[in-house]
Amino acid sequence: MSTDIADDRSVAPSQVPAALRELFGDRARFVDLYGDPRGAALYDDIGFSNTAEIYEILSALRKRPGPVLELAAGSGRITIPLLRAHHTVTAVDLAADMLAILADRIAALGSSAGSCDLRCADMVDIDCAPGTFDSVVIATTSASLLTPEQRAEMFTGIARALTDDGILLISTVDSDDGHNEADDLDISTVTGSSGTTYRMHELWPAHADARHLAVVEIDPATGEPRDDTEVHLSRVGVVPVATLTDELRSTGFEVRRERAIRDTAGTRHRYVLLEAALR
Ligand SMILES: C[S@@+](CC[C@H](N)C(=O)[O-])C[C@H]1O[C@@H](n2cnc3c(N)ncnc32)[C@H](O)[C@@H]1O
Repeated sequence: MSTDIADDRSVAPSQVPAALRELFGDRARFVDLYGDPRGAALYDDIGFSNTAEIYEILSALRKRPGPVLELAAGSGRITIPLLRAHHTVTAVDLAADMLAILADRIAALGSSAGSCDLRCADMVDIDCAPGTFDSVVIATTSASLLTPEQRAEMFTGIARALTDDGILLISTVDSDDGHNEADDLDISTVTGSSGTTYRMHELWPAHADARHLAVVEIDPATGEPRDDTEVHLSRVGVVPVATLTDELRSTGFEVRRERAIRDTAGTRHRYVLLEAALR
């Protein structure tokens, strides 16, 4: 794999929590997890086989044959099952490298699958005719990548994009207040579909409203990351169900159903899928 990282994908040291800078040392380079082909391949290697949410999303859409808008679709962990279930999907993601992986997957699907339109765009600015979609899906807690202001703008766009009786399916981590009392660093080892081993670090600093995911590749020769490793980072806000419900309400939605996401093996959090509709 190429290790050529565009400079604009680097994460400024001031944006990296001190605990992670200390852990990896001066020689490590911090880069955005989704920001280049290598990060996209790494995310896909680790994430694509994760089945969480797929059952809940397909169940919620079982009686809804209309077009689906999937935001933050990534490399298609949810998109591909939607297409296999014959849904017509518009899949949006900001990262062209993630969509390139998804495009290859779609090309390999049989002709009986649903059709898919790929759009490299910001989910904050939804650009479509009013009432185009019967459902909108934002999985993998991806709305937590946005600020509250960006989410409000996105929800307004979703409200416009949905049919009158359309639904929004959105997942989040269930947490009481979105904060924790002490620094929490969880380190685990995962093997991707390619056989490559990675170390995952999930740091949730005390009283912070966001977690930081840091992923490094393990050097098979030493069983450790290299000193000059690239650390792939993602900052994920913590948006409790109550907060998300309030945000949705203030943009014209009502949460009608909350589904516990059951297949979250290996994760420490409780994930939920909210189903919201326009009031
Ligand atoms: C946690 S991944 C989820 C990908 C996919 N849904 C999955 O389950 O594997 C988050 C995705 O959100 C995308 N993303 C981040 N900010 C975005 C934005 N403002 N607009 C669209 N996509 C965005 C990233 O590029 C990445 O593919």
